[in-house]
Amino acid sequence: MIDPAHYAMWNSGVPRPYLKALSPDDMLTDADGVRVRDAGGRWYLDGRSGLWNVTLGYGNTRVLEAIKRQVERLPFGNSYGYGRPAQVTVECAEALVRHMPEGINRVRFASNGAQAVETAVQLSRFLRLQEERPERMAVFAMWDGFHGQGPGAGMVTGVSYLHHHTGPMLPGVHHAPGPFTAGADPRVSDLERMITDFGPERVTAVIVEPIVGEGGHILSHEYLGSLARFCRTHDIHLIFDEVVTGMGRVGDFTRAEQVPDVTPDIITLGKGITSGYVPMSAIAIHDRLYDQLYEGTTGDTALSVGSTNDGHVLAAAAALAVIEVLTEDGVLANVARREADLVAELGKLQAQHPELTGFRCQGLFCGLDFGEPGGEAWSPSTVNKLRMALERRGVLSSSLRVVPNLMLMPPLVITEDDVAEIVAALDGALTDVKSGRLPESGFAKAMG
Ligand SMILES: Cc1ncc(COP(=O)(O)O)c(C=O)c1O
Repeated sequence: MIDPAHYAMWNSGVPRPYLKALSPDDMLTDADGVRVRDAGGRWYLDGRSGLWNVTLGYGNTRVLEAIKRQVERLPFGNSYGYGRPAQVTVECAEALVRHMPEGINRVRFASNGAQAVETAVQLSRFLRLQEERPERMAVFAMWDGFHGQGPGAGMVTGVSYLHHHTGPMLPGVHHAPGPFTAGADPRVSDLERMITDFGPERVTAVIVEPIVGEGGHILSHEYLGSLARFCRTHDIHLIFDEVVTGMGRVGDFTRAEQVPDVTPDIITLGKGITSGYVPMSAIAIHDRLYDQLYEGTTGDTALSVGSTNDGHVLAAAAALAVIEVLTEDGVLANVARREADLVAELGKLQAQHPELTGFRCQGLFCGLDFGEPGGEAWSPSTVNKLRMALERRGVLSSSLRVVPNLMLMPPLVITEDDVAEIVAALDGALTDVKSGRLPESGFAKAMG
């Protein structure tokens, strides 16, 4: 029995009052399609796909069958040491690179997004040491960018409270404002300006999310094109963190392939790579970097990074099935259709609720802004109230701790009716918040 007065599990990502208010009925127990059910028996349409990762919904039989077959046949095989990788993991790599932009033909697997980001940074720095340019160690990222947590990835993430609360973090990481930052001149790239001031010859890599998850800000083709040219001119590695944007979320396998004339040196993937059924991430790299990696190393080994469960066979089997489903089951075409539905419905909603001051969708990656019409943006706490009101009306979404946006990140397999249900619930939730009607449960109150 779970004792609500003393939960054994600690979860520092959620403030303590929220957990104290958590009723055993609030916990999730089951799922079906794009819906999850809590222990109290209520079903919710999962408009946030778990943690933005359950891209194919919860019961995809091709993925489930692949995992079952694999666990019976070979439940573990390591792809890190001893040189005898599991066949399924190697096959998964072959399948994945077929869907990467031209020139990105090599991939290694890791277990989560943060590890993929750290590996990308380590690879970049390793190559500089190999080039005998130890002064080229700086990494530039973007304020409000998210790249994971921990002493490495947490420092790359551009959320300053993560940088200071546990003592020393990864050194040599710098942040610049993004073009969406209030007051930024979109014609001038602060990233390029700051690197120029810092000294590009001391910079090893720039990492960006091509669509910034904290708010859903879409970096324009012009912005990314200019950044790619800048990096090429100065021999800086360009890393696209596609942990969220990759694997179908934006309507293609990568955001990179949607941006003309931009090929990053490294792409990190995670989240939807297994539809969230098993943990996995990937670091896909350009041939240029791969060739250099083994050039000039002593013996036949190069950069040593990795962990026991990297490229786990169950994850590899799941990812192979996900790739098949994305290519054969019309999922990417569905993303484009549902994006159009969502944009049309949100447009209509805006006419009724001018507090929805803006929204941006690329595929099923949608950021919504709220505020008083012609006045102040709503605070993160008000947007959080809206999220809880929406939840009470049966739809899960994401609100972020630092930026005041609501994120809709539904599974890529939602239907037209699901979109209508999400927007109708949002309509009701906006009315609830505007009329001061607050959610009833203790947990919802604490969250608000
Ligand atoms: C763009 C991006 N990169 C990396 C990560 C870290 O992934 P993980 O939570 O699997 O470590 C996240 C997590 O949300 C992310 O959004």
